[in-house]
Amino acid sequence: MIEFRPCEGFDEFEACVQLQIETWGYDESELIPRRTFLLAQKIGGQVLGAFDTDGGSNSAPEPRQALVGFAMSLPGIKTGSGKAWPYLHSHMLAVREGYRNRGLGVRLKQEQRLEAISRRIFHMEWTFDPLEIKNAFLNIHKLGAIVRDYRPDFYGVSSSRLQGGLPTDRLIAEWELTSPRVESILDGRPAAEHVIEERILVPAAIYQWKASSASRDRALAVQLENRKKFQEAFSRGLAVVGFSLDAEGNGIFELAPHGQAEQVFKSQEREKIYEN
Ligand SMILES: CC(C)(COP(=O)(O)OP(=O)(O)OC[C@H]1O[C@@H](n2cnc3c(N)ncnc32)[C@H](O)[C@@H]1OP(=O)(O)O)[C@@H](O)C(=O)NCCC(=O)NCCS
Repeated sequence: MIEFRPCEGFDEFEACVQLQIETWGYDESELIPRRTFLLAQKIGGQVLGAFDTDGGSNSAPEPRQALVGFAMSLPGIKTGSGKAWPYLHSHMLAVREGYRNRGLGVRLKQEQRLEAISRRIFHMEWTFDPLEIKNAFLNIHKLGAIVRDYRPDFYGVSSSRLQGGLPTDRLIAEWELTSPRVESILDGRPAAEHVIEERILVPAAIYQWKASSASRDRALAVQLENRKKFQEAFSRGLAVVGFSLDAEGNGIFELAPHGQAEQVFKSQEREKIYEN
């Protein structure tokens, strides 16, 4: 059985660090240390864990409960029109390899969402690699995040094994936690229709291309071409509002003019919420 709850105590924060190493293989210069997890929790962020209450799949002796996934976020402040409001920047989401594709990733995001709403925080953001088809599927299709911002080489050179030595280009996912779009998608209902003006494709073979130094140039070529397409589309006022997979497993970002309705919802809600 999997239990979802905030992490507590040094051992559980340390388990997050270990899962971080297992997932990304970061070297020491990039590793988020235990003390930052602890602080994230303390200053209004989140460190939510998924625990296998049977002790995990590893051989004994295992701790009482094994951490098999976590979501970590940091608190942030947005400003505009003379006002300031809180939001969460979700910095890490990881599920241990043998536990993937069983809904734990989505569930951890849902736990983050509910916990944020319980504290009257209604906006969450995170970055993700536009070449990671699974993550795009999760963020856009399953959770209802939208994207309007592309950051080339956002973190600089990375030791992450998932990065494959490529520049750390990132999309910024925006998750408007109580918007009709997000609520519909999480309930399994279709979001409002959009007129798709542009599609940007990521070939399914990208994972293989990134993994081998012999084919890395092909992955880099896709990254550079898509970087241009995203930047041009965002400069025209388009947003990523959908993501689909074709029969070959290629990922397709779907872009449309960003709906006015969502914008109006956002500003009205904020006025209402933070002036009370
Ligand atoms: C991203 C991650 C947290 C997702 O966790 P997870 O528990 O596997 O996610 P879920 O099972 O909730 O959802 C994954 C969905 O993607 C689908 N999926 C799996 N492989 C896929 C692929 N190659 N392409 C597209 N979708 C894929 C799954 O079928 C599932 O959708 P479904 O429920 O409709 O079937 C996990 O894969 C992970 O730890 N990855 C490494 C670290 C990372 O990239 N973190 C995220 C940074 S944004």
